[in-house]
Amino acid sequence: MPSERRPTLYYIHTIPGIEGVARDELATLLGVFVLEGFKTVPDRNGMVVFSTTEDARRLMDLRLAEDVFVLLARVPDIPWGWEGLAVLRERLPRALALNHGLNVLRSVRAIRPDGPLTFRTIARVAGSGQPYRRADLVDVVSKAVRGRSRQQWKSVPSGEQVEIWANLLGRELVVGLRLSDESMRHRSYQKVHLPASLRPSVAAALVQLTQPGNSDVFLDPMCGTGTILIERGLACRHGLLIGGDIDGAAIAAAVENVGPRHRPRELMLWDARRLPLADGTVDRVASNLPFGRQLGTPRELPALYLALAGELERVLKPGGKAVLLTSEIGTLRDAIDQCPRLRLGRHYPINILGQGATIQILDRRH
Ligand SMILES: C[S@@+](CC[C@H](N)C(=O)[O-])C[C@H]1O[C@@H](n2cnc3c(N)ncnc32)[C@H](O)[C@@H]1O
Repeated sequence: MPSERRPTLYYIHTIPGIEGVARDELATLLGVFVLEGFKTVPDRNGMVVFSTTEDARRLMDLRLAEDVFVLLARVPDIPWGWEGLAVLRERLPRALALNHGLNVLRSVRAIRPDGPLTFRTIARVAGSGQPYRRADLVDVVSKAVRGRSRQQWKSVPSGEQVEIWANLLGRELVVGLRLSDESMRHRSYQKVHLPASLRPSVAAALVQLTQPGNSDVFLDPMCGTGTILIERGLACRHGLLIGGDIDGAAIAAAVENVGPRHRPRELMLWDARRLPLADGTVDRVASNLPFGRQLGTPRELPALYLALAGELERVLKPGGKAVLLTSEIGTLRDAIDQCPRLRLGRHYPINILGQGATIQILDRRH
């Protein structure tokens, strides 16, 4: 039945570069979903702005989002410089949908009803360098919130109940109230971390790009601590999960992190250059490949990628798919060029904590 509720505007943060993949997850998860646009805070976040009539609690199930916000205000056409701050001082208080935002937040988690609500403002500025500091923007936004709430909301430097995020993106200010907490970014299954552990939202994006099916034999040939395998296990049912790594400590961590769930699954100590798997037995592969700086000698990388590509070409079923993450995309493509039964598909440049990398899709020809 169509819902009678009015749509609410939200936005999510993603790793820059996976906004479009996150949009697809939103469209699949939510029955009613209208995309309002994509935004970027360079090197920090991609943003997907959307509206839906669905219950906000559903958004907590998103796997590609790093954080979820209910939108409190959008102020367009802000002049550059100090004049812009003056315009915000005037226009922002009226634009803030504070009570609506708080009601949405209360539907997601409990907020103590007693006393003034405490908040902290976080500001991000993207685009042409502004003459004022971020602290000046924080000040304007905090004052607007206090005024709009008739001093019922109190700004504090730490220990806040809620976070207000102010994103100045070129000439537009987007203000949101954070609905999610740390647990969205750092999943509870991550018991053991190693330095090269992948961010779960990126692992979830790799998995989604494999277009998983319920009976898939799924492989991560360089599984590290097992993040991708776990995200695959959580995505939908599977036939078999297979993971391996050359490093015993990584496999021990993967065994600990995967725990007793996601059966049937096999975790093995192996060299991905010689996989102990029969030809044409794997439906889907996703992997975060070792990058140059993670290897003792970067010169080894072309040979490693070439051997891995040959093994993927061999073990994938015709029509199978591999989704690989690397910062050495040229080296990977050179390796794929040597594999006539693999075809390069779409790729997604992304940015993880300031480092550029590429998600490359490969198709095993029929
Ligand atoms: C970027 S890390 C993967 C991190 C993993 N996605 C995670 O979240 O923990 C690359 C992994 O490749 C492994 N590796 C390097 N060379 C390998 C090889 N020849 N065979 C199997 N694994 C290898 C490393 O031990 C490392 O765990």
